[in-house]
Amino acid sequence: MNFLLFSSQLLIFLLTLSNSASATEFKIKIPRLSPTGAGLTVDHELETSFSWLSSPLSTDYNTFYYTQTLDHFNYNPESYTTFQQRYVINSKYWGGSKSSAPILVYFGAEAPLDSDLNIIGFLSENAIQFKALQLYIEHRYYGKSIPFGSWDEALKNAGTLGYFNSAQAIADYADVILHVKKILKAEKAPVIVIGGSYGGMLASWFRLKYPHIALGALASSAPILYFDNITPEDGYDTIVTKDFREVSENCYQSIRKSWSEIDKIAAKSNGISMLSGKFHTCKPLKGPSELKDYLEYMYSVAAQYNRPPKYPLNQVCAGIDGASVGSDTLDKIFAGVVSYIGNRPCYVNQPQIVSESAVGWRWQTCSELVIPMGRNNNTMFQPAPFNLNAYIKQCEDSYGVPPRPHWITTYYGGHDIKLILQRFGSNIIFSNGLKDPYSIGGVLENLSDSLLAIHTINGSHCLDILRANKTTDPSWLVKQRKTEVEIIKGWIATYYADLATIFSK
Ligand SMILES: *[C@@H]1O[C@H](CO)[C@@H](O)[C@H](O)[C@H]1NC(C)=O
Ligand SMILES: *[C@@H]1O[C@H](CO)[C@@H](O)[C@H](O)[C@H]1NC(C)=O
Ligand SMILES: *[C@@H]1O[C@H](CO)[C@@H](O)[C@H](O)[C@H]1NC(C)=O
Ligand SMILES: *[C@@H]1O[C@H](CO)[C@@H](O)[C@H](O)[C@H]1NC(C)=O
Repeated sequence: MNFLLFSSQLLIFLLTLSNSASATEFKIKIPRLSPTGAGLTVDHELETSFSWLSSPLSTDYNTFYYTQTLDHFNYNPESYTTFQQRYVINSKYWGGSKSSAPILVYFGAEAPLDSDLNIIGFLSENAIQFKALQLYIEHRYYGKSIPFGSWDEALKNAGTLGYFNSAQAIADYADVILHVKKILKAEKAPVIVIGGSYGGMLASWFRLKYPHIALGALASSAPILYFDNITPEDGYDTIVTKDFREVSENCYQSIRKSWSEIDKIAAKSNGISMLSGKFHTCKPLKGPSELKDYLEYMYSVAAQYNRPPKYPLNQVCAGIDGASVGSDTLDKIFAGVVSYIGNRPCYVNQPQIVSESAVGWRWQTCSELVIPMGRNNNTMFQPAPFNLNAYIKQCEDSYGVPPRPHWITTYYGGHDIKLILQRFGSNIIFSNGLKDPYSIGGVLENLSDSLLAIHTINGSHCLDILRANKTTDPSWLVKQRKTEVEIIKGWIATYYADLATIFSK
């Protein structure tokens, strides 16, 4: 079967803002957890840096559909409804069922699977040495794995969105893995599940909930501790601040000062049009918060996806620090925008394309993935404390049902993780790059001999599972990936030894 890859841009659903569920003035902004950041509209660089996204996948990748159960946990008539769930297999390097050769499974996250197939390198690059089958599974409600016949129908209201959650998603993954093992007669093949970001959370939770299906998990940049009050609410922005300060004290100071400068100008009678002129906005600003939201988001994205070889953080600061003599604070900030985003006809409020991921992620963060993120006065941003009541109200207004802020920790745990998991869990790698603001909600210490934290000081979001680049990957990244592979090899070797012992009796 010929599987042709489309660029992520083609996959972005061209929704007009008025079309998407109450998109007007939706103020909840939890940064997306995508492994790559592709589709984040602020960041042209992210889109173009994956130009090879559009290169066709080799014909070794075959697409299939599994008839999936809508609701795994109830026995109501509607629970038995089915939908087609997409998965992709590459068996080129697989050692086969006779030798119980491993299966590496990639868990799709809040995006269509297509772009991941070319961006995620961990499976394809290691399949040879593991003699592994590669299996990629799409997350329900994204891409081609849409219940209720159409995307519009599936996202219509809480009645159809209600089946869109992580527990259903990992149950889907369990079903698909067992199905694939059955048709390949590979019941004894060890399975390693791999995911990045939200997909990394799913991978770690899967190993805890389905140890009989997955031998181990690689959870890359998975902030499983950014729920309830486990991680301080300002953790994310504290890291963004630290990142900028480490690149340049002057850059950090300029950003810190800029917010009150924006407020000061905005308060003048013609202030908003002055700001619109200064930042070459695409249309007149509605107010200072439109500009501030954009800048805050841009700094966050630059930190989260601070990738080699370009290192967006450095790009922003090079612009700010390199602004011409006589520039005031806001001129410098604008120079930072241009340095990062590139030369464009206009900036800040360019026409928005709302991606399928953004719409899905909004529901997910308004139902179970309540990541309490706010700011006190310790960051380079203006204070904006997290307000749970306002958050709940906003979600309720949008969807008619309130979020469940404590469900993730009730269902998967998270509090006192070392105490709880050291003797219960096993075989999970929590990998992080400490420049990634989400790393603050990750597992950063070894919990036991096989619940391992592998992090890099200069790494950012999900770097370890992205495609390798021999020319530009720094040595610490190469080493991180190698360490992860060695750990997984150890798990598999132990499994084969156990298998031989138990079945020789
Ligand atoms: C920052 O916040 C703390 C606690 O809310 C307060 O005690 C402190 O005075 C504040 N510092 C500044 C510089 O505003
Ligand atoms: C955890 O243990 C692994 C394997 O021994 C080691 O490579 C890694 O550096 C440790 N992580 C931390 C955060 O100490
Ligand atoms: C991280 O990056 C900084 C700045 O480029 C560099 O000085 C430092 O040596 C790096 N640290 C590691 C562990 O690679
Ligand atoms: C590696 O990075 C360089 C510089 O960005 C790029 O030109 C090259 O195509 C990349 N190679 C691969 C295999 O992606």
